[in-house]
Amino acid sequence: MIDNKKVLFSGMQATGNLTLGNYLGALKNWVTLHDEYECFYSVVDMHSITVRQDPAVLRKRARALLTLYIAAGLDPEKNCIYYQSHVSGHAELAWILNCFTYMGELSRMTQFKDKAAKHADNINAGLFTYPVLMAADILLYQTDVVPVGIDQMQHLEITRDIAQRFNGIYGDVFTIPEAYIGKTGAKIMSLQDPTKKMSKSDENVNASIYLMDDPDAIRRKCKRAVTDSLGEIRYSDEQPGVKNLISIYSACLNKTPEEVEREFAGRGYGEFKEAVGEAVVSVLEPLQKRVHELEKDKSYIDGIIKNNAEKATYYAQKTLRKVQRKIGFPDRIR
Ligand code: TRP
Repeated sequence: MIDNKKVLFSGMQATGNLTLGNYLGALKNWVTLHDEYECFYSVVDMHSITVRQDPAVLRKRARALLTLYIAAGLDPEKNCIYYQSHVSGHAELAWILNCFTYMGELSRMTQFKDKAAKHADNINAGLFTYPVLMAADILLYQTDVVPVGIDQMQHLEITRDIAQRFNGIYGDVFTIPEAYIGKTGAKIMSLQDPTKKMSKSDENVNASIYLMDDPDAIRRKCKRAVTDSLGEIRYSDEQPGVKNLISIYSACLNKTPEEVEREFAGRGYGEFKEAVGEAVVSVLEPLQKRVHELEKDKSYIDGIIKNNAEKATYYAQKTLRKVQRKIGFPDRIR
């Protein structure tokens, strides 16, 4: 708890471009969470180097992501948006937690197995202990809730296991985090295969709308979206492509799927897809404009980076000192 508010923590990787799915499904719904939670959003650059990165690209993307979060409406005065690498407590706690995590449990992580298969030439120790760094991220702020997708659930589980193990030995040191189940955003699927989630790593560029796509690309991708031959605009599992387009349209314009069905009853797919494209453009164009404005204001963004790193460090240090004392590290001499 911070100021009587529960703590919410989320980390995001700056690799790959964020999609409309990330925005409608997550980001857009986070802008008011600070009323209820003390929110930390960390650009997890330390996680990114578990896979080889081009330094200039990583730096650029990290900043772009941080800027995008602010442009999307997360108020940086009310939400702590910061770089993981600027708060050394993440690395320090991760080391300690490494000593409370078993090789066996890390070997069972499906993401490790997937990534090891994908990067067979670079199966480094960091890739293996990735979930421990993630546990450190979360536990460092005494986090109550973590908004995670299904792919990160196993990592949240191991975080809870590590925290419980530690607390079992040393008393109540860590808050045991839970998955955040709030009002969920829209679940946006691939435009080319509407049975899969829209993903920033999809190889087919037409499958995903990226937040920085220009209006023409957005319109084109919507036009090419896979539908079916039923010719009816219905929000039904039998028509996953059409259902997905209804989800997108309704999330962009804050309408219910039923309203959209009524609005387009008896009309054709071509016309509907065009309307979806315009709806997406109406959301992303202003977002992109804000990104570009913020990019120009270097000192404003720099100020946020500095202040929020200091704020995060303050809370991180509190937990870290407590942990260090509990495990028997010598007190500091002041
Ligand atoms: N592993 C997460 C992902 O790839 C990112 C992440 C790092 C994270 N630390 C976190 C997410 C802490 C939630 C909480 O999506």
